[in-house]
This record gives sequence, C-alpha cells and structure tokens, in this order.
Amino acid sequence: MSAIVEPTCQIYEGWEEFYHGDTDDKKDCFLAEGKLFDIIFAQQFNRPFLDYICNLANQIRRMAKTKMGSQKLRSLLAHKRAMLYFVQPSTRTFLSFQNACHILGLKVSETRETSTSSEVKGESQEDTIRTFASYVNLIIVRHPEAGFAEKTAWVLNQTDRPVPVINGGSGPDQHPTQAMLDIYTLERSFKHIGGLDGKKIAMVGDLKRGRTVRSLSYLMKNYRDVTLYFVSPQIFRMKDDIKAFLNKHGIKFYESDDFRSIMPEADAIYMTRIQQEYADDPSGEIDAYPDFHFKKEHLGIIKPHCTIMHPLPRRYEIDVAVDKDPRAAYWRQERNGMWLRAALIAYIFGVEKEIGTEFL
Ligand code: CP
Repeated sequence: MSAIVEPTCQIYEGWEEFYHGDTDDKKDCFLAEGKLFDIIFAQQFNRPFLDYICNLANQIRRMAKTKMGSQKLRSLLAHKRAMLYFVQPSTRTFLSFQNACHILGLKVSETRETSTSSEVKGESQEDTIRTFASYVNLIIVRHPEAGFAEKTAWVLNQTDRPVPVINGGSGPDQHPTQAMLDIYTLERSFKHIGGLDGKKIAMVGDLKRGRTVRSLSYLMKNYRDVTLYFVSPQIFRMKDDIKAFLNKHGIKFYESDDFRSIMPEADAIYMTRIQQEYADDPSGEIDAYPDFHFKKEHLGIIKPHCTIMHPLPRRYEIDVAVDKDPRAAYWRQERNGMWLRAALIAYIFGVEKEIGTEFL
C-alpha cells in the first residue's frame, strides 16, 4: 500500500486579507465584463438577477420538454467542457449540475475523492484546481472547507487562464446555488398569491451549521416585507453574522424553540437536518430533536397554501407520510435545482439569448 503524502501548503500573498475583507468589497473580484463570472456567495445576487435566472429556468424547462427544443439546448454549449470537483459527499447538487451540463451539451469530467488524484502525492489543492483550468471551461466545486471555492476563484482570476468557478457548497459556510433554487421553488409555489414578497418563512433545525439556511437568509434582502422565523434547539441557533446582516437590511426575524406555535403562521416551512458531519464527535450527537420534526398530524394546522421545503438529504425531520400532501415541495425543489443550474450555466456562458421565448 502506498503512503499518502502531506498536502503541500502554498502561501498566496494577499489571500488572507482578501478572505477576511468586507463582502461588498469582494464582489468585483468575481465579475467579468460587467456580469457575474464566478458564483461564490449569495450576497452576489440582486433581485433583477434572481428574477432573470428564475425566468430563464422556466424557459429551459419548457424548451427541454420537446425533442426540437432539447436538441437546440444541447447545441448551445456543445463546444464547452466542465469539471465537477466534488470532494465532499453529494447526491443532488452533483447530479443536478451534471444533468444541467448535459441539457446544455457540455461534456463533464469529475473528481469525487482526492484519493484518485495527484493530491495523494502531495499536490496542493490550488495546483490541482489550476490543472483543471488547463482542460475545461467551467469548474464546479463542493468542498468541506469554508472559503475553498472562493480561494479557487481568487487564485484562478490572477492567472492567464481564469475559468468560472461555481460554489456547489463550501463547508458550513455557503451554498449559493441551493439558495437560488430555493428562491425559484418559493416563487413558483407562490406564483398565484403574489410571489415571495410579504411572506413568512420558517427555517427549522440546525441553523448554526446549515449552509443552506445561511445562504437563503442572505437572499431575503431582495424581497419586500419578508418575515423569518428561526426555529431551532438552543444549541443550534442561527449565528450572529446572519442576524447582523438581517438587522442591517431591515429584515424582520424572530427566534423560537417552539416549532408547533410557529407552524400556523408560516407561508413556507424550510426544514433542515442536524449537520452531524460538522460535530467534533459525530457519534456523540445522538439526539434527533423530535420537537423539530414535521409530522403527518401537523398538516392539519399549517396554512392551506404553506409550502414545505427541505434541501435534502433528510433523516427524521419530515415523516414520509407527508410526502403525498400537495404542499410537500421538496421533491419538486430538488428537480428545480437542475433547471435553475442549467439557467445559471447558460447565463455564465452568455447563450441565454438563444433560449427562445417561442417555448413559453
Ligand atoms: N441539498 C444538497 O446540497 O444535497 P446534496 O448534499 O445531496 O448535494
């Protein structure tokens, strides 16, 4: 058996200062020719952009339903290649990006664990990513470390071959494309009742370590008069940085550990899993927190239009008996991710003008 060599640690001058800098000051680093180039954190998205991408996702999903439409879509980026570097486990983010690439005709390469790459010989992660950029036109990254996708984009943008980087989830920090597909799902769910503006959203579970609820909270600044309920056990309360952001942007939020009392208030309930993988001792976290589970009997006390969401995977947070209720949106939500991610890739490569309105 060959030994695994310690990864080479390379010092990038200026990175630490950049990483710890103000998010608003960083945004320009991830733009090219006046539009988003890298997709790194949710604070990059404004309302016109979110509306635009959601509309584009609708166009793509309708176009893909016909043979002629899907052939046209597949021709749009048939000359491009993408790398899926997913070294933290993933099912739906990986598959939805892979299938989004297929919809648009991109060829896809993948690495799903470092044990099969030259990282076992000690090659640094930065050199590994730079190597991908030699072969492909787009890199999509899922990584256990907060800030990894950001560093990847920052490093590549200083080379003579920058390629766009999409953050497919970075540690307990951010999951910006999940937040976009959540917005898409919310907007579709509320399309007959005025959209997301003015709605009350309950986020439930491990809010401290759940990156999806963090990224989604950032996006709420783009919607008028939204109220958030953060419902969690005391030890998993939403972190102060998100609460400071919401206060700064005048977004109302309440914290509670009484899920049942919040249920009748909410227009959407966003369930999340206890993120055991980030515990110092995952086997030590045995409490499943049943007071923060959504059960079949709760269907009777939520609003008739309430949308039940979950980024998935789930454990015990939502009873399978809830799945049949039309308000259970989580299976639609994961499929929405494929259309939304296809729209995002079409936008990044500037081919969205070729996605016809004749399919609407
Ligand atoms: N929602 C989500 O990120 O799922 P995966 O971890 O399966 O990609």
